[in-house]
Amino acid sequence: MAGQLDKCACSLEILKFSARIYLPPEGAQKITEYDQWAEVYDIMYGNYRDDIDFYVRESKKVQGKVLEVGCGTGRIYIELLKEGIDVEGIDISGRMLAQLREKAAALNLQPEVSVADMRNFDLGREFSLIIVPFRSFLYNITPEEQMSSLRSFYRHLKPGGKLILNFFYPDLEMLMGMNKESEELLVSDGGKYVLRQRSYFVNEVDQTIETIAVLYKDGELYWKGTQRLALIFKREFELLLRITGFKGWAVYGGFDCRPLTSYKQEMVWIAEK
Ligand SMILES: C[S@@+](CC[C@H](N)C(=O)[O-])C[C@H]1O[C@@H](n2cnc3c(N)ncnc32)[C@H](O)[C@@H]1O
Repeated sequence: MAGQLDKCACSLEILKFSARIYLPPEGAQKITEYDQWAEVYDIMYGNYRDDIDFYVRESKKVQGKVLEVGCGTGRIYIELLKEGIDVEGIDISGRMLAQLREKAAALNLQPEVSVADMRNFDLGREFSLIIVPFRSFLYNITPEEQMSSLRSFYRHLKPGGKLILNFFYPDLEMLMGMNKESEELLVSDGGKYVLRQRSYFVNEVDQTIETIAVLYKDGELYWKGTQRLALIFKREFELLLRITGFKGWAVYGGFDCRPLTSYKQEMVWIAEK
């Protein structure tokens, strides 16, 4: 299996694997495709901290409530809570939120999180700041989903409220390198893991990619999953903000808010209602 993942065979195997583990019993709560990531999310991304100071700093600047969309297992959310920020969180995955709650309880923190879909939610209140960190906006695959999410954020912002999100610039070199497998050694509380990943185009003209991730522990297959993302260019996102009514915006290259001058930089967007 190692090294030579054939695209079709691998997808099929992953489907079988997912069905075996994640088939919900009759009447059970619906399990989303993101639920399957909950058990390995912290192994893969728990140690990533490059964006935390930025989101803490921006959240401290505002008066009033903050909402984190796609708060997941709380990698950022819990840091905001620790800083005493009045922050609420939503995520489509109940299993991600279960992990967040468990971690918060261990720290004696009281999270305010609920299951909701960013494409269409109604919390019945407005926020001074909405953040969508760690490229979560890219899970909106179609322009309809992207506009629907931006409209949901807009509705939940106070006048003058801010939306902050980040995602990668579709890096032309990365796109040329599609289908190549990468390998990474991960060390987390649970031990040492090897993560092999490969991305490929699901639809080139509609700018959709899928990544197959396979995790090994002690040389044995531990977990497999896929995730699908949209590629969104700078001018495209500007149009989306314009169409959905945002008054103004700025885009920076990275979390130190330098000018965006290269497709190697992360796009960090700050938009205002
Ligand atoms: C890359 S993780 C980011 C988690 C967390 N914000 C962090 O920075 O570690 C993306 C999260 O978005 C959630 N998500 C995906 N689609 C969503 C949707 N339509 N509505 C709400 N959450 C969604 C996933 O369940 C996942 O927890």
